[in-house]
Amino acid sequence: MITKPKGCIDLYGHEAKVWKYVEQIVDSVMEKYHYGYIRTPLFESTELFHRGVGDSTDIVTKETYDFLDRGKREMTLRPEGTAGVVRSYLENKMYGEQNPVKVYYNGTMYRYERPQSGRDRELTQFGMEVLGSDDPMVDAEVISLAVQIYKLLGLKGIKVKINSLGDQESRMKYREELIQYFSPHINDFCEDCKERFSKNPLRILDCKVDQNNEILKKAPTTIEYLNEESKKRFSSVCEFLDLLQIDYEVDPKIVRGLDYYNHTVFEIEADIKGFGSNNVLGGGGRYNGLCETLGGPSTPAIGFASGIGRLVKALELENVELPIKEDIDLFLLYVSEDEKKYAAYLSQELRLAGFVVDTEYTSRSLKAQFKQADRLKAKYIAVLNEEDLNNYEIKIKNNQTKEEEVISLDAIIYYLDEKLVDEMGDDCSCSDCSINDHECSGDCHCHDD
Ligand code: HAM
Repeated sequence: MITKPKGCIDLYGHEAKVWKYVEQIVDSVMEKYHYGYIRTPLFESTELFHRGVGDSTDIVTKETYDFLDRGKREMTLRPEGTAGVVRSYLENKMYGEQNPVKVYYNGTMYRYERPQSGRDRELTQFGMEVLGSDDPMVDAEVISLAVQIYKLLGLKGIKVKINSLGDQESRMKYREELIQYFSPHINDFCEDCKERFSKNPLRILDCKVDQNNEILKKAPTTIEYLNEESKKRFSSVCEFLDLLQIDYEVDPKIVRGLDYYNHTVFEIEADIKGFGSNNVLGGGGRYNGLCETLGGPSTPAIGFASGIGRLVKALELENVELPIKEDIDLFLLYVSEDEKKYAAYLSQELRLAGFVVDTEYTSRSLKAQFKQADRLKAKYIAVLNEEDLNNYEIKIKNNQTKEEEVISLDAIIYYLDEKLVDEMGDDCSCSDCSINDHECSGDCHCHDD
């Protein structure tokens, strides 16, 4: 049997509903914060990631899926979303439009990593980027937006960790200090770190192999080398976070695994028992130099991305109950093939009227159809038979209370509307309705209680 590639998942059934719910919450929160949706290609020219993400990062040196297309062009499946968004921002000259540009995305990324829990080869991220503002208020807004998404989903165990890498001057000073610090010990480090030492010593701090090396643990931190301006900027970000009542911890060890960052960097961890070591739900930071690196005008920017797989795992571990609709409004049964056409017609009418309706497709016995209705958790079932249809009537039954009524076919929409809205109640405080600020119309995901 042909099986799926390593490090990939098939998403279906209940889990697919959980992912879709997460994505709906992401959409609605992004809309509230006035971020526009952007979709960029799944593959881009290889050069974009070498220049954008960085030649010294693990992602680019070891983890990209590279291929030559039939025109012999070097292409790469995107390992992350930021480089593509920045390429699109520059190519479409969005900087000439309204600034800042605030966009969000949601899609699959590809990294050839050793598959393990929380590390997939095909991963799905949602993320956002703000291009065209250097205001520390934006840094705080991006962090708070990420936190709001996790909170709205009902996640409690999250920890926000922030740090500053400072501006170019601070980074250079820090780089020199790191070279001096690591120089006498570099032979004790892994082969990759030896290479990082000459290319980008900051990457050593991010090494997965040498994580427990005491020398690495005691390495100088970025914060000690911030110049006055960078310090002031970082304090301002912290002040905005306080104002927005976001709990955070300053962690000077956070440097992030991509080359493009400066100033604010942050990660949001799952602080949940049993989560395992890949517990960073999402991370991001400022990348004021990336637009220029990619040949565009100097443009300050910041962003964040979160892995949906890790987020769903966190929700499961915390047993968060999501308002996911598992049942259907009505299952339409029919006694014989004679009523089948009417079942097809009536199903469509009711679906167009807004109900979730399913019916019989495999010519099962009536007994088997009743079983199927139970399996699908139908709230109501209706049986079409010749006699009722001749009288323009239908038997409809509450599948829980087993109360049964015969009603005129004309009245079925009205009947279901009354019954289902009654069961739902008027007030609805689910995140769907509260975020979207509308009265519950029954389209949300919570009226199945
Ligand atoms: P990143 O830290 O490489 O940042 O990835 C962000 C999130 O994607 C991680 O925290 C994790 O949840 C998820 N993730 C990454 N790799 C994997 C994997 N192999 N399997 C499962 N999940 C994974 C970025 O990608 C940056 N582009 C974020 C950013 C946006 N910075 C500025 N703007």
